[in-house]
Amino acid sequence: MPEDRVIIFDTTLRDGEQSAGIGLTTQEKLEIARQLERLRVDVIEAGFAASSPGDLAAVKAISAEVRGPIIASLARCVPGDVDAAWEAIRGAERPRIHTFISSSDSHLMDLLRKNPEDVLDQAVSSVRRARNLCEDVEFSPMDATRTDLDYLYRMLEACIAAGASTVNIPDTVGYALPSEFAERIRLIRENVPNIGDAVISVHCHNDLGNAAPNSVAAVMEGARQVEGCINGLGERAGNASLEEIIMTIETRGDALGVTTNIDTRQIYRTSRLVSDITGFPVQANKAIVGANAFRHASGIHQDGVLKERTTFEIMDPQSVGWPSSSLVLGKLSGRAGLRSRLEELGYDLDQDELNSVFESFKALADRKREVSDADLEALMSSLRRRADVPAIYALEHVQVTCGNHDVPTATVTLVSPDGSQLTDAATGSGPVDAVYQAINRIVGAPNTLVEYRVDAVTEGIDALGDVTIRIRQNGSVFVGRGSDTDIIVASAKAYMNALNRLLAIGDVPAPAPARA
Ligand code: KIV
Ligand code: ZN
Repeated sequence: MPEDRVIIFDTTLRDGEQSAGIGLTTQEKLEIARQLERLRVDVIEAGFAASSPGDLAAVKAISAEVRGPIIASLARCVPGDVDAAWEAIRGAERPRIHTFISSSDSHLMDLLRKNPEDVLDQAVSSVRRARNLCEDVEFSPMDATRTDLDYLYRMLEACIAAGASTVNIPDTVGYALPSEFAERIRLIRENVPNIGDAVISVHCHNDLGNAAPNSVAAVMEGARQVEGCINGLGERAGNASLEEIIMTIETRGDALGVTTNIDTRQIYRTSRLVSDITGFPVQANKAIVGANAFRHASGIHQDGVLKERTTFEIMDPQSVGWPSSSLVLGKLSGRAGLRSRLEELGYDLDQDELNSVFESFKALADRKREVSDADLEALMSSLRRRADVPAIYALEHVQVTCGNHDVPTATVTLVSPDGSQLTDAATGSGPVDAVYQAINRIVGAPNTLVEYRVDAVTEGIDALGDVTIRIRQNGSVFVGRGSDTDIIVASAKAYMNALNRLLAIGDVPAPAPARA
């Protein structure tokens, strides 16, 4: 068996960004990449440089700033893609080109419409071109789990001979069963003569819910790199959840005999940040990072955990960074108390950031008796949004009249880019619609609202309402978030957040990028 450390390859910023409805700015990608560095992943696939100028810029920015992990860019097996990938990552401390081509009969016949030998040659010349530019090259035969085995062996052997030091076996359509996938990895190890010169990687999709079990089964057969996304984001049903694989290795190292280099205490923060930035919520019963993952509801379980935690908990919540204390802050709390609580939650603030969050904290504490960890996370998320998204228009005032005998009517005042105040009013089918119509009259940026969601940050009538929306313009989707104890105000803030992103379109991936 190969050595016992599993390389953790994060593709949240590439395959994860392929989740329908996600479009991240360079600033947001950088923020996620910095957190992945703290999590100590081994490889960050920062994007697909040839897919859009926005992706190229983001991969470049991450390569220039993030130190520690290998920074990879995806590239189809075509010269232009390989060159663009190199252009994007050449500034990285440890660059990697990840090049891929389809290998299954289905893809060769119906997608590429090429004969297998030509495709094999294309794969080899692409790996060779990449290897001439970059020392670290990964090759993926796309749809490998539905690929003829003899052809797969030949392709892998030729690509390793051409310079690939990692060969990745993608279950692109999430079709494999754990036993079949493990068998395929074993057969590859037995039948590819030079397989010892490369690391075997796996990349599993979750169409049947088997992505993490398939990845773990492959590790048991000698795969030593696992690819996945935080919170299981990714194309269609997503990729393998990295946090699930990491904690499986951590918790069941006894059975698997392998380890990772991950700082598991950063898992919770990473999950929250990715959810916050992408606007994709984490389901409550999601393993490791869901709100209920460490909550015990039944009396028997509670009794057990109170007597001895391990009766019903196989992991210590603190080992994945769940906040340890349930201390609540209130309006008498000062800056020092706020800073110390935020530090415990994993936020490292400079004085300006602390002053800014303290102001919002005081305003919230005036309206809400107790300010919980979840409230603080919502405040931090608003602060981050203000830093990440240029406030081209700022919300100054919003007022609504509505009721069962009234036509919902909103008056809104925005501060425009030149500092002047602009006020307008509109009616709508409901109070939120009226607010959005009034804002539209001022900003004049036509778009379609494709998603609107309100979540309560905590329990109770005085809870912060957290609004997530997605708007679409010319095929691009822009997410917006806003929180307030008044959900109409939260809705207005979310809309302004999305509109400001749309207006700063220069920093947003171009519509309909090429997708892997
Ligand atoms: O799912 C897949 O096959 C991919 C490849 C590009 C690695 O994402
Ligand atoms: Zn994929």
